[in-house]
Amino acid sequence: MHSENSSHIVNTREMLIKAQKEHYAVPAFNIHNLETVQVVVETAAEWRSPVILAGTPGTFEYAGGDYLVAIVETAARKHDIPIALHLDHFESFEAIKTYLDMGVRSCMIDASHEPFEENVRIVKEVVDYAHRLGASVEAELGRLGGVEDDLIVDEKDARYTNPKQAKEFVARTGIDSLAVAIGTAHGLYKGEPKIDLERLSAIRQEVSVPLVLHGASDVPSPIVQETIRRGICKVNIATDLKIPFADAVKQYFAEHPDANDPRKYLTPGKEAMKKVVIEKIKMCGSHGKA
Ligand code: 13P
Repeated sequence: MHSENSSHIVNTREMLIKAQKEHYAVPAFNIHNLETVQVVVETAAEWRSPVILAGTPGTFEYAGGDYLVAIVETAARKHDIPIALHLDHFESFEAIKTYLDMGVRSCMIDASHEPFEENVRIVKEVVDYAHRLGASVEAELGRLGGVEDDLIVDEKDARYTNPKQAKEFVARTGIDSLAVAIGTAHGLYKGEPKIDLERLSAIRQEVSVPLVLHGASDVPSPIVQETIRRGICKVNIATDLKIPFADAVKQYFAEHPDANDPRKYLTPGKEAMKKVVIEKIKMCGSHGKA
């Protein structure tokens, strides 16, 4: 176990390998502030689920990496479940270095917009640095459409992951997990999302590291569960948490137009998020796995 002075924040390697062996997925929730961290961690602890707290570059700038590491470290000391803080969709090696040096132990380097060789080169550079610190690395091959903070990818620029290329990508970069593009997108969908399950199975045949599903909000649970059966071990959820939080706060203000105490108006938002966190943990089958 941890010594008193060492960090309790873990990387995502072991938790995802355990999920892969036992056929469930670890939910990764995008967090933005103290309230989201508290709700996600306390709910995961109640349900004995390992959990990943993901922050985009925008979130790390907004909240401050030092604050986030300290808050998550506090949460990880309080609760006896695996808790990871993860850099989500980081495109800059320098930024990743900064936050790994602060104590973050899991990162995604997203160079999926680059040509294949350049993607390999950038990812390998991050892997070499991160692995020296015991941190784990996720990278993306293919490209998801949709909107995630400042990352906006038009549908026409979205590309599916090529299974054979995925094999070469994993072998040459040494990444710990691979984000696949199989038809999900960040944010809400216009109709029912069309997920290429055959492609996912083909990728799984070629690649042995845990696979990651981005853009899982607004995808029907049975479909997400089918992706888990076919090899997804980490499920990313942002929008499905943000909307109920905002809606509950808006409703509170509609009913209490003069409210000004954040402890009061944020509480319904926290309660709304908690319901979603429970649903997603059950969808992932991660309860009782901590
Ligand atoms: P959603 O907002 O669609 O859940 O996407 C989250 C995500 O993939 C974070 O990387």
